[in-house]
Amino acid sequence: MTRCDRTEAWAALAGHYQAHGRGFDLREAFARDPGRFAALSLQAPEVFADLSKNRLDLATLRFLFDLARECGVEARRDAMLAGEPVNATEGRAVLHTALRAPRGAGPHSAEVHAVLDAMLAFADAVRAPDSGFTDVVNIGIGGSDLGPAMAVRALDALRPPHLACHFVSNVDAHDIAPLLARLDPARTLVVVASKTFTTQETMSNAALARQWFVARAPGRDLAAHFVGVTTNLEAAAAFGIRRTFGFWDWVGGRYSLWSSIGLPIAIAVGGAAFRELLAGAHAMDRHFAEAPLERNLPAWLGLLDVWYRNFHGFASRCVAPYHQGLARLPAYLQQLEMESNGKGVDADGEPLPYGTSPVVWGEPGTNGQHAFFQMLHQGTDVVPVEFIAVRTAAHPHADAQAKLLANCLAQGQALMLGKDTATARGEKAPTASATLDREVLARHRSFPGNRPSTTLVLDALTPRSLGALVALYEHRVFTSGALWGINSFDQWGVELGKALAGALLPRLDPARPLDTAGLDASTAGLLARVRG
Ligand code: F6P
Repeated sequence: MTRCDRTEAWAALAGHYQAHGRGFDLREAFARDPGRFAALSLQAPEVFADLSKNRLDLATLRFLFDLARECGVEARRDAMLAGEPVNATEGRAVLHTALRAPRGAGPHSAEVHAVLDAMLAFADAVRAPDSGFTDVVNIGIGGSDLGPAMAVRALDALRPPHLACHFVSNVDAHDIAPLLARLDPARTLVVVASKTFTTQETMSNAALARQWFVARAPGRDLAAHFVGVTTNLEAAAAFGIRRTFGFWDWVGGRYSLWSSIGLPIAIAVGGAAFRELLAGAHAMDRHFAEAPLERNLPAWLGLLDVWYRNFHGFASRCVAPYHQGLARLPAYLQQLEMESNGKGVDADGEPLPYGTSPVVWGEPGTNGQHAFFQMLHQGTDVVPVEFIAVRTAAHPHADAQAKLLANCLAQGQALMLGKDTATARGEKAPTASATLDREVLARHRSFPGNRPSTTLVLDALTPRSLGALVALYEHRVFTSGALWGINSFDQWGVELGKALAGALLPRLDPARPLDTAGLDASTAGLLARVRG
């Protein structure tokens, strides 16, 4: 691996940015090149992507492909797919792709498919109308929550109406307590989902659920109502769980929805549909592994991210899915991207002289339009937006679907086209103050435009297309992380806060006298303030 800033392509890109990137105008680019849409859009498995409303052209892409080749991104990808320990700080392989490889086709296939078969058989039994279960509660956090919660919501059309799926993650008991209060333990299955089975939030909530079960269903067999999904089978057994579905240390938490962590998804959509989810992801894996960089969508997106972050200086990206079912996708992507690539040192521990993960955020359209899109259109910062449009709806309301899609396309148009002051001056503005100077008003009502966006299009939101979409994001994050020369698969940055919380916890015990010894004045003051 060669770090991006130590390549010839990086220097060439810097020159290209000064000459063509900094002053790049999307409107002029479209006027100059009638083939721009065709040249800068790409069909990958299940996902069509239009990158033409971004501040790049084919020349930029060529420099970026050179960068990827000089950095050895393809070799690193191949090493990951082959099961080499690319997560060097933890000495682990990174093989979430093996979880979606067809039987006999990937590394660890026998064990992967043995667990998958058992997990899906159990899921289908739970979702059967005669199972006695009406509610499934997944207790997990981070990767043991966000992926399943996102996917269950996205694929809600496949959930049997007699079954509800709930997700509890926060250590704040305001999350779990109202839920348990309204559930019947005799008809509830609790899934305790934790790769490590040591995470404070999950263990705390699991203990509360166990207390609730014992108190509200005396004499019932807890083991028939609690199931564990974890790599730590002993800890699950010690908790009192008899039925566990395992996975392996080569599956990162934020890459684990394809493993037994996906149990709530399988219960909600059924075993056959879960296999479709895996197949969609596998199709994207093949695309990522086999397509040349020039036609490789995850590579394009990862390269675009580096171009924006390190040359244009854009520090944020907004994800706007125009499908209510994808409401949790931005939260899921926050962990995927920011926990993977929010790193400040390279693989050798050298501090990085350039930015890494952008801030990823967003809300579904059209809700976002009535909240933060004002800033995207007229604010002082440029935030690239990623629209996700889904052509066909799962509901029969064609008019609503047309309105949704019109809004999605219009936002990308508006960001790019903007509106100059002369146009604004010529328009009527009935709600404007009658005493306001026309020129001043025109300045308030003009839009700079030239704001970039990418639009991803799915034909329909299905298990297969969702699998492909999520795998696309995984490989895009891999690509930018590989270019930045970082380890995208560890997360040491979450440790410090966990340790400090552990040290503060005893000081919150109201039975003990206030102890602020050794604390900074702010933390000491706040501790005194919040203690019960
Ligand atoms: O604290 C961060 C983290 O380790 C994530 O990477 C992970 O997804 C989450 O906590 C939950 O961990 P576990 O599945 O082990 O409970």
